[in-house]
Amino acid sequence: MYGMVNKAVEDMVVTHHGEAVWEQIKAMAGVDVDVFMSNENYTDDITYKLVDAASEVLKMPTEQILVGFGEHWVLHTGAEGYGGLMKAAGKTLPEFMRNLPDFHSRVTLIFPKLQPPHFECTDITERSLKLHYYSHRKGLAPFVVGLMQGLGKNFNTPAVARQVADKEQGGDHDVFEVAWNPKPA
Ligand code: HEM
Repeated sequence: MYGMVNKAVEDMVVTHHGEAVWEQIKAMAGVDVDVFMSNENYTDDITYKLVDAASEVLKMPTEQILVGFGEHWVLHTGAEGYGGLMKAAGKTLPEFMRNLPDFHSRVTLIFPKLQPPHFECTDITERSLKLHYYSHRKGLAPFVVGLMQGLGKNFNTPAVARQVADKEQGGDHDVFEVAWNPKPA
């Protein structure tokens, strides 16, 4: 994955736990990179090792780290670093969600070697939808749950995501039911 992902993990850890803990996590992960370059590609292995080591050092389940990382990604990495892209994708949570399937095609203009996830929205109502998440990567469903929570906060429309199908139990993708309270008109 692009270095910006590892940088965002670093930013989340340093913000909440400080530099020394981050150095400890990198050492435990066996990752010998001083500075991650946003535009450079790193093997996915590095990101998974950093998340696993963070789980060990912080004594938190990996899933919890990934949920936190999803929120951080939307609220800090996305909103602060790529505010224009985020704003262009919608003014409200439901609008943003409907545009999500096309979101990473814009990101690909900045990061041409991106291997993005693929999303589809079905069963759309005023207060919920089903989000279908396709990826060649493993184990990132909790990250998607955190992304949805982060988007809810970003739009001041608290949202919950419940996984209703898991590709690790067969099938070719994960499905989440995403629900929010509709805002009064
Ligand atoms: C402007 C904000 C965003 C940028 C710049 C961005 C960029 C990226 C990058 C660089 C990766 C790593 C993939 C690679 O390097 O090959 C990635 C992965 C991912 N992104 Fe985004 N993204 C953004 C917003 C979002 C949002 C809003 C969502 C969903 C709500 C999302 C969902 C994901 C997921 C689930 C992955 C993991 C990859 C996988 O599942 O295979 N991203 N994105």
